Amino acid sequence: MKNIAILASGDGSNAEAIAKYFCNSDSVKVAAVLSNKENAGVHSRMKALEIPTFTFPRNEWNSPDEILDLLNRLDIDLIVLAGFLCMIQPSIIEAYASRIINIHPSLLPKYGGTGMWGHHVHEAVIAAQETESGITIHHVTNEVDGGEIIFQASCKVIEGDTPSILAQRVHELEYTHYPKVIEQLLLN
Ligand code: GAR
Repeated sequence: MKNIAILASGDGSNAEAIAKYFCNSDSVKVAAVLSNKENAGVHSRMKALEIPTFTFPRNEWNSPDEILDLLNRLDIDLIVLAGFLCMIQPSIIEAYASRIINIHPSLLPKYGGTGMWGHHVHEAVIAAQETESGITIHHVTNEVDGGEIIFQASCKVIEGDTPSILAQRVHELEYTHYPKVIEQLLLN
């Protein structure tokens, strides 16, 4: 069995899509969700799916010994960021070299980097009158949104789109592709 830990700070709709995708799998299990926010929507979504969640405040993400202990105890094979908004410290990146991935709601390298997350990305894409946006799944390194790209998929930006309409279209791409990319990384 390959074990995943999902890291999420917000609503957790990607965490839910991933958890549902693997819920009957004999080979991949979502072992836990780790968050930095006690009241994030991801906790109730995971409760409904009987997946344990753990909250560590930001200062613990900054010196993550306890977090590393937990990941070790859970025998984690892959760390999956899904709307996680804390920096991943070098000690975690070293311990899980090439085994931490992130999803970003744009076609990187466009609209990435510090401050570019969630609705900020979609606002910037619309303000720049882009006709295309999409998703990027990439390895996590010490550079924000800078790791090697594993997968990208695109969608149209349609005239009149608001950031929330575009976010919905991008989310659909995320739900379709993120679980499959995770599966390929773990099982190939
Ligand atoms: C997702 O669209 C994800 O790509 C984005 O946050 C959203 C989380 O939604 N991540 C980033 O912007 C990271 N830079 P969710 O909590 O419903 O899965």
